Amino acid sequence: MSPFLTEVSDDISQMTTTKAITGEYVVKPVEPSDLSRAIDIWSLSFGFMDRDRWTTFYDSFLDTAMGAYTDDYLVAVVGIANFQMWLGEQLVPCAGVSAVAADPAHRRKGLIRRCLTACLQESHRKRVPLTALWPFSYPFYQRMGYEVTDMQYHVELDLRALPDVGDATRYKRHHLDHYDPLKPIHENWIKQSNLSIKRGDLQWRRLLSHPERLVCGFKHDDGYILWNIKDRVNRTLEVFEWAWNTREAFFDGLALLKRMDDLNFDKVKFKMSSLDPLLELGITDPQPNIVLKPGLMTRVLHTGAFIEAIGKNIPPFLIDDPLGVSESHESLKAHNGVRQFSPGEVVQVATDFFSEKPDGVPEGLYRSVATRKNYSVEFF
Ligand SMILES: CC(C)(COP(=O)(O)OP(=O)(O)OC[C@H]1O[C@@H](n2cnc3c(N)ncnc32)[C@H](O)[C@@H]1OP(=O)(O)O)[C@@H](O)C(=O)NCCC(=O)NCCS
Repeated sequence: MSPFLTEVSDDISQMTTTKAITGEYVVKPVEPSDLSRAIDIWSLSFGFMDRDRWTTFYDSFLDTAMGAYTDDYLVAVVGIANFQMWLGEQLVPCAGVSAVAADPAHRRKGLIRRCLTACLQESHRKRVPLTALWPFSYPFYQRMGYEVTDMQYHVELDLRALPDVGDATRYKRHHLDHYDPLKPIHENWIKQSNLSIKRGDLQWRRLLSHPERLVCGFKHDDGYILWNIKDRVNRTLEVFEWAWNTREAFFDGLALLKRMDDLNFDKVKFKMSSLDPLLELGITDPQPNIVLKPGLMTRVLHTGAFIEAIGKNIPPFLIDDPLGVSESHESLKAHNGVRQFSPGEVVQVATDFFSEKPDGVPEGLYRSVATRKNYSVEFF
């Protein structure tokens, strides 16, 4: 190429940084050379500016990243982290959707929908039965076929109101650079719930080194408590993970928390899948503040793999997937009176989400994998 031509193309590339982008959008895997651009989009969209943490996230955590490009300029990203999720008695693959973000200049053009579809198509080719995510907005992902699949109690209690029912000394301070002893407790804990996600070392390290937390851990023979002492402004101790595998581990933990009624804290907040052990205590004064909030969103991805994982004869049913990725189960003609399910509704009706059978759900599908309560704690 002549020096003259090089000069011209350099000029053009400088001009393109300010001129309006006019090209069509193309959705394709994010090129490793575009990582810096992806980090620009993520850090602006999520407000975490630590570029090293984003680089590690991309290199080690994400298994797939699809991007929307215009004129070779990356403007939207959707990532997938592959997990193992409990479904009944077994762990099955689950595509965890993460790092969903678009450049503000290119939002509201359907690009996230296209990137997510491309990600799910790839996981579908690998026969992944389920996909899950933590939404910023439930309706946004409902329009993409996901449904909420667990409900979580957010409990806030005045520390003085806690009855002294357990033995605080059974919890011992545990330094978290050695988190190995917590792992079997965590595994036993999540195994008690349907749709819970298995945690690997990478996720442990990310959880314990979260930039917005100063983590303090206590370990019991049958549980552990992780709390965040960074934000003392509201005088509320944030227990961001509390695993208890026996009733005693819950009561002993309450005794420990009660003793945090000190210079810094008046209240404690934590999450529960069931209120039963708390209601037993009849706390009335001051009254607990308990809010029921939606948790994880899940949907079927590869329907055949999902049915195989259930391991039972399931009658045919129709899926109407807004992203066009997941197929119906066996051939069944759509006609009046036959209900069509969104891929998320299939997970809701097959698990323990509903305690009454919604209209039009085939008997064999309803609660076909519902021996455990749905509850998921893993954040991604
Ligand atoms: C949320 C975000 C990714 C959406 O990006 P986007 O490119 O506008 O998304 P799309 O255009 O593909 O939107 C798909 C649909 O949702 C709608 N939508 C977009 N943003 C929305 C919002 N904030 N609230 C509700 N609906 C929204 C779109 O209109 C579109 O609807 P349609 O398919 O019926 O036309 C973007 O606003 C963002 O990066 N936000 C900051 C980071 C964030 O919150 N990420 C999500 C983490 S779960």
